[in-house]
Amino acid sequence: MTGLLRIVDASGERETELSRGRMTIGTSRSDSLLITADGDFPSLLSLTWDARRATWVLYCSLPLAAPVIVNRRAAAPGEQIPLTDLDVIEVPGSFLQFQRTLASPLRSGKPIEQIPVDNEPVVIGRGDPQGTADANRIDLDSEEIAISRVHALIEPDGQDYFLTDRSRLGTELNGVAFTRERLVFGDRLRISSYIFEFTGDAIRLIHPESSGTVSAENLTVMAGDRRILDQVSLNIVAGEFVGVLGGSGHGKTTLLNALCGINPPTSGEVRLGGVPLADRARLREIGIGYVPQDDIVHRELTVNEAITFSAKLRLRLPRHQIDALVSRITRRLGLAPHAEQRVADLSGGQLKRVSIAIELLAKPSILFLDEPSSGLDPANEEALMTLLQSLTLTKLTVVCTTHVLQKAYLFDRILVVQSGKLIFAGDSDDARRHFLLQTGAE
Ligand SMILES: Nc1ncnc2c1ncn2[C@@H]1O[C@H](COP(=O)(O)OP(=O)(O)OP(=O)(O)O)[C@@H](O)[C@H]1O
Ligand SMILES: [Mg+2]
Repeated sequence: MTGLLRIVDASGERETELSRGRMTIGTSRSDSLLITADGDFPSLLSLTWDARRATWVLYCSLPLAAPVIVNRRAAAPGEQIPLTDLDVIEVPGSFLQFQRTLASPLRSGKPIEQIPVDNEPVVIGRGDPQGTADANRIDLDSEEIAISRVHALIEPDGQDYFLTDRSRLGTELNGVAFTRERLVFGDRLRISSYIFEFTGDAIRLIHPESSGTVSAENLTVMAGDRRILDQVSLNIVAGEFVGVLGGSGHGKTTLLNALCGINPPTSGEVRLGGVPLADRARLREIGIGYVPQDDIVHRELTVNEAITFSAKLRLRLPRHQIDALVSRITRRLGLAPHAEQRVADLSGGQLKRVSIAIELLAKPSILFLDEPSSGLDPANEEALMTLLQSLTLTKLTVVCTTHVLQKAYLFDRILVVQSGKLIFAGDSDDARRHFLLQTGAE
């Protein structure tokens, strides 16, 4: 396990790897972690490795020279705060962010990114500091106490593989606890901060934090000599539920299409999972889903046939795995009761869920949707938005345009476009404050 402190202050941004000893944070030359703070900031803060808690502990000694805020809460003098990944410490003039990285999974002492599954059962669990030679074990970070020695077990059973939770603190499969479950293509298994994905014949370590990001810099889209998108820059982190809001004709669809590459911008740059739009091959690996406003699904097929048909076209998997995947997705999207119904006979909300199911088959990291709730009544609209929000539990990033403001509180982040310009980016509380203030001033 390694710990890192990212320091952002007036002198810029830098990262320091944390040692296992005691490190003081302050403005004096003798401090191990030197910061620039507003005014004098004697070394009253320190970080110490705590093996029992398997993390670094922030200690605020008494009395504090200035307020120290940890995750938006003021630290009390004398308080000891065990840090978790991405905790933010604020002192006047500096932001410090803690980042924790777990060691690579090891098999027989060698780092691996992918674990083939075959006829032998495989145990995933906390490794031994001395290492093990057992080829049927995947050893995770030996210092991470949240992981049990035997945490999860993968075993073949007939044509399938089954996953059993053997841990003390629980394991998540696709965001929920489980006991024993058949593995289906694309399943995501979370153990502490490791995330593995089942690929049909292997378990692959994935890094969703990097693959689910969306960033744009100075996007401009011209239609003739009209600027329909004007210098838009934004950053979306993995697993966020993002709403693009704005009045009709203000550029929501234009922005969405520029971000996902359907209609690339005239100028500016977009990166999905850090990959530029032009790099189609690498984008395919990251997985980008797009659900247009008008659903394109074969209307004569049943729901089950339509989804199975797309799965066969998109994925090279044996038939039994296709069937398991289709039934898993159909259930997840609440379509099981309609599986044998013709697509042509579905309601608007059901049809939309079929389109989403088809996009989810290939397990994208980012899903874009244009006006998914248009034409739905309020109850169905609420159900759909809640469903989209729940998809982000597995670190899928969901970006959708909408002009319904009532459900905007469900979004983690709201982007408002007006006349092609991004006039607001923030969470729903900020949006409420921002727009209330504006109305108040008018
Ligand atoms: N290909 C195009 N050629 C010319 N003008 C276009 C083109 N595409 C979009 N526009 C114009 O750009 C503006 C933004 O369009 P866009 O479709 O992005 O709006 P929107 O916010 O999605 O609207 P709605 O809520 O009605 O879907 C509109 O004025 C539209 O007429
Ligand atoms: Mg639109």
